[in-house]
Amino acid sequence: GRHPAEPWRIKMVERLPVTTRQERQRALRDAGYNISLLRSEDVYIDLYTDSGTNAMSDRQWAALMSGDEAYAGARSFYRFETAVRDHYGYEHVIPTHQGRGAENILSRALIRPGCHIPGNMYFTTTRAHQELNGGTFHDVIIDEAHDPGCEHPFKGNIDLAKLERLIHEVGPEHIPYVSVAATVNMAGGQPISMANLTAVRDLTRRHDIPIILDAARAVENAWFIRQREPGWQDHTVAGVLRELCARTDGATMSAKKDSLANIGGWLGVRDAGLAEQARNLVVLYEGLHTYGGMAGRDMEAVAEGIAESVQEENIRARIDQVAYLGRQLSDAGIPLVHPIGGHAVCVDAAATLPHLPRDEFPAQTLAAALYLDSGVRAAERGTVSAGRDPDTGGNRHPRLELIRLTIPRRVYTQSHMDVVADGVISVYKQRDLLDSGLRFVHEPDVLRFFQARFLPT
Ligand code: F0G
Repeated sequence: GRHPAEPWRIKMVERLPVTTRQERQRALRDAGYNISLLRSEDVYIDLYTDSGTNAMSDRQWAALMSGDEAYAGARSFYRFETAVRDHYGYEHVIPTHQGRGAENILSRALIRPGCHIPGNMYFTTTRAHQELNGGTFHDVIIDEAHDPGCEHPFKGNIDLAKLERLIHEVGPEHIPYVSVAATVNMAGGQPISMANLTAVRDLTRRHDIPIILDAARAVENAWFIRQREPGWQDHTVAGVLRELCARTDGATMSAKKDSLANIGGWLGVRDAGLAEQARNLVVLYEGLHTYGGMAGRDMEAVAEGIAESVQEENIRARIDQVAYLGRQLSDAGIPLVHPIGGHAVCVDAAATLPHLPRDEFPAQTLAAALYLDSGVRAAERGTVSAGRDPDTGGNRHPRLELIRLTIPRRVYTQSHMDVVADGVISVYKQRDLLDSGLRFVHEPDVLRFFQARFLPT
């Protein structure tokens, strides 16, 4: 079906690379069958990520020109700080070069060996920083989140019984914070409800445990709350976002997502002592506490992007475009994660290629096949991304073995979504031909999915 017209017009265009199947075959071989290692010049439609790949507005480009590049105390920092305070509500704002910069600072400040960090499903960089500092991550998301077909409207919710059990098992003094993502990336961009977050707030307050929000896609989460959760229909998305943040003690942010920028991030906290600690760390790892690894112009672009991100027509068009692609694939019988998430349509690779063992990486295999067939690059979100269990050394086998078709904001049109749908459907029809998977020929120790190399088995 049709979907509402984009609330913007195009002022500048970028030529898309067109390749032949033979060229893609060579590119794939050169990339060690890892779509992360493809050159973007060899990719037609790039749905690897929605991170830093957004199209900036004319106002953001204009803001770049007003960047104050002073080393210390730049005007652009204060504009950035005000935008974060106004929209997210955290008193102390520590700038970082991107989301994982904030995760590093936070994890170093709060995690010691023997700590336990519960969260609503893991994210790759978030868990890596927790483990690097000696912590152990515990997934306390509701079971429905691991079931791709389940239509639960808030699959990002925390299972309060799981959280309470963990608090009793390890003791609240060993839990530095609960890590709450909104939306949950690895579950397919699924939201957490306000009611659930409120209940988590009540439970953790009784045990004096802070909540840290991963706010990368919290605007998208706020949109889903407004659409789906009783009692929030009359609120603005900006208002729902503030209410989400109000139930947390701090947040890490990748401004490369919701905030429509190409780079940037921040750590926001309410506690003055933690802010002081974080500022001491940021000068070591990122840059001075008034730029944190960003140029002044980057902070300008983020400040403007934050304001645009909560505009109703902007967020509506964003979510509707993702849903439009989802509907086409769903109508064609492709096994997907339901409901369709905020930033991506996720194809269930385990259900598509049930004949492949998990240790032959069905999702990576499917992503490579899709690229070869159509030049569309998806992301692997399955066994390769999950890495190895630090205790056993074996591959982790998450129940979700997905390829993620991640939609950059304001970049592609409806016709591009039609091309993507045709490509996925074509590969799905030929799935029986994919009778062998992949094996590692090079496997990095950390975040292996970025740089690993494979060969067909
Ligand atoms: N948290 C979430 C939920 C994310 O999705 C990401 C990045 C980060 C933190 C880290 O932020 O990249 O700015 O350092 N996700 C990208 C993705 C890479 O493709 O999903 P970063």
